[in-house]
Amino acid sequence: MRILAIETSCDETAICVLSDKGGDLLLEKNAVYSQIDIHKKFGGVVPEVAARKHLQTMMPLIDSTLGKDKISDIDYIAVTSGPGLITSLILGMTTAKALAYAHNLQLLPVNHIEGHIYSSWLSNKIEAKHFPALVLVVSGGHTEIILMKGHGDYQLIGQTVDDAVGEAYDKVAKLMELGYPGGPIVSQLAEQGKSDTYKLPRPMIDNKDYGFSFSGLKTAVLYSLEKQKSIDKKDVVNMCASFQQAVIDVLVKKASKAAQEFEVKSIMLSGGVSANTALKKALDKEAKKMNLPFFYPELKFTGDNAAMIAAAAYYKIKNKQAELLKGKDIFSLEPQANWQLVKKYLPRVD
Ligand code: KG4
Ligand code: ZN
Repeated sequence: MRILAIETSCDETAICVLSDKGGDLLLEKNAVYSQIDIHKKFGGVVPEVAARKHLQTMMPLIDSTLGKDKISDIDYIAVTSGPGLITSLILGMTTAKALAYAHNLQLLPVNHIEGHIYSSWLSNKIEAKHFPALVLVVSGGHTEIILMKGHGDYQLIGQTVDDAVGEAYDKVAKLMELGYPGGPIVSQLAEQGKSDTYKLPRPMIDNKDYGFSFSGLKTAVLYSLEKQKSIDKKDVVNMCASFQQAVIDVLVKKASKAAQEFEVKSIMLSGGVSANTALKKALDKEAKKMNLPFFYPELKFTGDNAAMIAAAAYYKIKNKQAELLKGKDIFSLEPQANWQLVKKYLPRVD
């Protein structure tokens, strides 16, 4: 089994080749072209610009990633089909569809969030005994607690009612004019600050359900800063630390409560925010208290990448859960900007 995966859900053009080696996945080639430097000056991703850049990057990146390998050495093409920016998704999907049709390969759509979940499988030995797993997905667009009962078997336990965690980091960075993307900057500054300086709310921390809300926290940061006559470097690092602590307190409390209620066998973290060292440390401590293994992706697989899409595809094919398309059927596949993992993906047929 040899899979070529394509990921273009936002501002990263990503390609990889992943195969099976003795019943385990083997990542042979992996390339990510990040557009961050282009979008930085706009303070966020500009969809039209992202799509144009994907178009320029895609074919040269596939060529350089494949190297001496030919497309005829590939068995499957996996492509992110949602959720994400529609204009970005179209670029990756059109490429995948054209390649699969022209070379008579099997095409399979992969959900971006499912990809993030499987990023943990790229560097950990996760086995059947680790199910059910409590998965905390934290990215720029998503904040969800998912109960993973087995491969491809998910139950949504809770999600944000407004901003995603990564989005909150980005917004807080923006209001302090720290740059984009805010997550890595705020988390780095937080290490130098004192987390008890500003009294910030822990939204929904004691609610019975597993919902999250982060937009109020961002507003609380704004109001606290507005109250001050001036803001110096020390205030900024203290605010970053206080904000980060509020976020971590909520995420860890809800994740550990859900882990207990659903009697899980492991805890997993994924999504762009899983790069956050303080969050990983806090979850690791909590998992140890509960005597549960804690899995998270290697740093290079925390942001958007094709390896995680190929990993999800690998287990789908292996477990005969893949929605495989071949020949003319390939053209029925459409991008779904709001594809929800827990709902069945229905390609438009009209
Ligand atoms: O998964 P991802 O690359 O893209 C989406 O699918 O959304 O996540 C990007 C998000 C951004 O909001 C970014 O600020 C955040 O992840 N992020 C972080 C860190 N590194 C990236 N947030 C907190 N701490 C970090 N170290
Ligand atoms: Zn992502």
